[in-house]
Amino acid sequence: MVKFATPFLRSSMVLAAAAFAVAASPAVSDETGKQEYMNYCSTCHGDTAKGDGPIAKFLNVSTPSLTTLAKQNDGEFPLLKVIQIIDGRTGMGPHGTLMPVWGDRFKAGSIDSANEYGAEVIVRGRILSLATYLETIQEQ
Ligand code: HEC
Repeated sequence: MVKFATPFLRSSMVLAAAAFAVAASPAVSDETGKQEYMNYCSTCHGDTAKGDGPIAKFLNVSTPSLTTLAKQNDGEFPLLKVIQIIDGRTGMGPHGTLMPVWGDRFKAGSIDSANEYGAEVIVRGRILSLATYLETIQEQ
């Protein structure tokens, strides 16, 4: 038998698998991100993300604009912070903690998939699309 799985080959196989997973994941795109935003965030943050969605006036805290996140962070979009807010790691009052207002949309467990890894990739695609969409609408 050919002993082919040398450490080098093994690591290239891992890399190839990772590349495949990225290629097979739903495209991370601004369009997907915008859809996610409109479905799960705009009711509070507003269609143009200025913090003026129809639900905002019923909250007892003010709903921030999401177009000034970069401005408030020395001109740099706080990607990681936004990702963590969406995936729920950063519990935020009105977003809820254990059960965020957007339910389990951004949790891998919500996806009926025989393949755990596939579900994780899909959810990461959604989160990243949403975060990068927000990045595209930052005020200068
Ligand atoms: C129920 C209304 C509501 C929904 C829906 C909602 N948010 Fe929020 N969001 C808020 C409020 C209110 C705050 C301010 C919380 C605070 O100050 O404690 C906030 C804060 C934030 C912040 C932090 C802003 C800052 O200036 O630090 C981000 C980022 C954010 N939301 C993103 C999102 C995203 C992305 C979605 C959709 C997945 C979403 N929110 C859905 C009400 C909402």
